[in-house]
Amino acid sequence: MKLTTGAPGARIAGLGDYRPHRVVTNDELAQVVDTSDEWIRSRVGIRQRHFAGEGESLVDMAVAASGKALAASGLGPEDIDLLIMATCSAPTSIPGVGPTVADRLGLRGPGAYDLNAACAGFCYALSAASDAIRTGSARRVLVIGAERLTDWVDPLDRGTCIIFADGAGAAVVVGTDEPAIGPVVWGSDGSKREAIIVRDRATMMEMDGQGVFRWATTRLAPVARECCERAGVTLADIDVFVPHQANLRIVDSMVRALGLQHAAIGRDIVESGNTSSASIPLALTRMLERGEAKSGDLTLVLGFGAGLTYAGQVLRCP
Ligand code: UT7
Repeated sequence: MKLTTGAPGARIAGLGDYRPHRVVTNDELAQVVDTSDEWIRSRVGIRQRHFAGEGESLVDMAVAASGKALAASGLGPEDIDLLIMATCSAPTSIPGVGPTVADRLGLRGPGAYDLNAACAGFCYALSAASDAIRTGSARRVLVIGAERLTDWVDPLDRGTCIIFADGAGAAVVVGTDEPAIGPVVWGSDGSKREAIIVRDRATMMEMDGQGVFRWATTRLAPVARECCERAGVTLADIDVFVPHQANLRIVDSMVRALGLQHAAIGRDIVESGNTSSASIPLALTRMLERGEAKSGDLTLVLGFGAGLTYAGQVLRCP
């Protein structure tokens, strides 16, 4: 048997994002559930989020973000031979969303699949893309993180409806001689599956917010350190840190634990809420647009969430 080999490394060639039109403020939510702008800002850090509406299905948002990522990369639909759709909020599981997104984008029959690692999904997918390129299974991969979480969240549950939101981010990953996506550090703890769960098709998301908060603020800093070690860099080398946008207090706690005060920090949760697998590409795209991050910056990304799952890696900004 022969095996294929691919490029020595992989890099992100272009990023794209999509935020739904409807902006929902904390005051608007406070008209529906017993909460307040002050409580949400101080406990979660969110000022506003985007809720998807008509013409903004999961597929629509993924297609829009992907179109921008393709344009940014300078590649066309004909160049992509693998699409990985990270999502945990697909409206149905049969068929997967990936092939439909590929078809809508006019890709020429690429490998296409859905990947559900919840809020860690984008980092899992980035690793799968990088590995596929390095082994020669694919040459150019479209990685998408997209969620329509409002389909799965009870608008009357103040423990979740104030946090979760909708959106999509995408990255085009290509081969390169100089590796620009580092080794992944990933893991899971299925014994904590009840922490964030949708039990069946008739019910909505339930979350043990405090339990997840404790886990994220105590268990994930060592994972971030290991990402740097495996990539052969130190925390002091990190220019940009984009953890999953779960809660601003979790972001700030990680920044303190890692001593990353001098890096640019992704804090898109303030404007976009918690968009699960979309949150990291959404945050990074915005930081690049605003000049808070720049091409070539050494960036640490770290996703974590339901499962429980986590994954992180060091990469260079496109
Ligand atoms: O992305 C997936 C991973 N998910 C996460 O990372 C979520 C992590 N967890 C969190 O972000 C936080 O735990 C929450 C934002 C969900 C909750 O914040 P908290 O500071 O942990 O609040 P708590 O659950 O400890 O509740 C404190 C109080 C309670 O009232 P009593 O019992 O002290 O009277 C809650 O009933 O705040 C109350 N409360 C609220 N009050 C106003 C809970 N939710 C709300 C709300 N508005 N929306």
